[in-house]
Amino acid sequence: MERLQKYMARSGVASRRKCEELIKSGHVSVNGRVVTDMGVKVDPDVDVVQVDGRVIKPSGKKVYIMLNKPVGYITSVKDQFGRPTVIDLVDYTQERIYPVGRLDYDTSGLLILTNDGELAYKLTHPKHEVPKTYLAVLKGVPDEGDLEKFRSGLRIENYVTSPAEIKVLDVFKNSCQVEIKIHEGKNRQVRKMCESIGHPVVSLERTAIGEISLGDLKQGQWRFLSSEEIEYLCKL
Ligand code: URA
Repeated sequence: MERLQKYMARSGVASRRKCEELIKSGHVSVNGRVVTDMGVKVDPDVDVVQVDGRVIKPSGKKVYIMLNKPVGYITSVKDQFGRPTVIDLVDYTQERIYPVGRLDYDTSGLLILTNDGELAYKLTHPKHEVPKTYLAVLKGVPDEGDLEKFRSGLRIENYVTSPAEIKVLDVFKNSCQVEIKIHEGKNRQVRKMCESIGHPVVSLERTAIGEISLGDLKQGQWRFLSSEEIEYLCKL
């Protein structure tokens, strides 16, 4: 269910505020009945909404967006505790979009949002194994043995991870920066894998999904995927 004024705005009638005015002044009907209350919700799949007698509908066009998620945002459309969500960062309201997969509250980086259910399913289905690349700062510096364990598969809780890639990029005094590539997406998987080799994650950023990478998109910013990127994802 969706608020009537939001549904109207998505259908290209006017801004949400202007739509509220249209509702109040009796221009809008739902299933043939004029509504003037503000709290009305509609089911986009069932209800018929008319403005001055003309049936309105969202365009239904497919939308593909890339967001560079900052730390401190929930990967969800709504949060039951009112915390900021990734949707708050994307000021695009014409279609209802939702995040594909999940980044933790304390993880930053590349997140795809879409209204294409088929693509979302494909990208998150374990059988497709789209590789995901992360940059992480780890506590301490793993030795060859640790790296080998990471690469060959680890037990995290009651699950053995499939082979993953890890490369040390930079070594600092009490930490290091690594690039990690995994083909799975279990809950907090990178964090659990790093913890399991004794080098917990200090910070974590996703930089790529398959061949789609963040590039120079700044944290908190978003852009539409290019047609090449969309084609690549749909062909996976
Ligand atoms: N692995 C994690 O541990 N966290 C993420 O957000 C993504 C992958």
